[in-house]
Amino acid sequence: MKTLIRGGRLVDPVHGIDAQRDVLIENGFVSRIGENIDAADARVVDASGAIVAPGFIDMHVHLREPGQTHKETIATGTAASVAGGFTAVACMPNTEPALDSAAIVSEVVRRADAAGLARVYPVGAITKGRAGKELAPYHLLADAGCVAFSDDGSTPRDARVLRNAARYASDLPCTFISHCEDPDLKGAAVMNEGPASMRLGLDGAPGLAEDVIVARDLLIAADSGKAWHIAHVSTATSLDLIRWARTRGVRVTCEVTPHHLVFVDDRFDDYRADSKVNPPLRSAHDRDALRAAVLDGTVDAFATDHAPHGLDEKAQLLSLAPVGFSGLETALGAYALALPQLPLARFVELLSVNPARILGVPGGTLGVGSPGDVTVFADRAWTVDARLFRSKGKNTPFDGMTLPRRSLATVVEGAVVFEHGRVLPREEVTA
Ligand code: DOR
Repeated sequence: MKTLIRGGRLVDPVHGIDAQRDVLIENGFVSRIGENIDAADARVVDASGAIVAPGFIDMHVHLREPGQTHKETIATGTAASVAGGFTAVACMPNTEPALDSAAIVSEVVRRADAAGLARVYPVGAITKGRAGKELAPYHLLADAGCVAFSDDGSTPRDARVLRNAARYASDLPCTFISHCEDPDLKGAAVMNEGPASMRLGLDGAPGLAEDVIVARDLLIAADSGKAWHIAHVSTATSLDLIRWARTRGVRVTCEVTPHHLVFVDDRFDDYRADSKVNPPLRSAHDRDALRAAVLDGTVDAFATDHAPHGLDEKAQLLSLAPVGFSGLETALGAYALALPQLPLARFVELLSVNPARILGVPGGTLGVGSPGDVTVFADRAWTVDARLFRSKGKNTPFDGMTLPRRSLATVVEGAVVFEHGRVLPREEVTA
């Protein structure tokens, strides 16, 4: 099978390319990059007027399988991925049961292969059942396909457990991903603590709940020497702590979400849960610090924290409604909305080069021999209608907003899996 992506502006920071180039993919790998490639028998993707990048990788996604298929399935989540321009996603272990055994991880890998859309990289649990007590079997999990470990959704409360975990997994390349929220400081909070929560009489989580765990986990990373990644950073102080840790030689990377870059904690006046998320939307000071940290290089990756839930679940009382919302299908536009001045090469670095490097997975560049994973996107304004999401989660604070950038075509292993607004299962294109 040959696929030719023709006439686009190729942005590949690894090779220092930003120029009009065609990309030819044969048998799943890039076989030629050049001007005016002629391949009569190839399936052609017309990328004229668009940007062509090494496939985007979202390193923080909740696919909800096994156990919560009313919220999302691997099939619907990967359909949302490719529609949003992502050729690969890392899926978090807070499923039911958690991704804490080789059998469950193997089943996720099998279902992802059967879906035939985006590549799926499971993130294994740090502790069994994500209960924060017993260590998960990291070596077996890595053999089954896990690329990283995390108790995402919560924080192991016991620092001794986390320290032992980092030591036990020290010979594996898999990074540890920290969800940083102190459960005691956070309490029953539904939003950020600040003037807005005071005015509304709502329980707020202080930024301190995040900062103390970021500090603790960076010190455990230093103690263990393990590569560490801080998920969904939301406070200015977390960024300062990460900068400090780097001066001490700690191998730490971090990500920010689209919602923390766009919104602040002024969205709860109607007591609705649409914007309820962990960590919560913060102050304008924090949001501006996150934007600055993307521009100054402190932030390594963009990641959505795609967290689909049923509309009925999110329609409950603010105190009862689950945290999070869908992010895959709005991400490219949201990042561009938050940071219109971000150079394209840096945009690609945050969405492709760095996630591939942090997770140690293929991709991140489009040289000859690279995987045939490509994202084609353009700066074309569009209006979000969450009802049209491929994700089962139809909830997003971006609903109704006009975003300035969108994905046009997605190619995984040389197969065109999204084009002209349609998700195309692989069978259809390879038949
Ligand atoms: O808002 C969130 N939702 N944050 C998390 O860390 C977990 C996620 C979920 O699984 O719903």
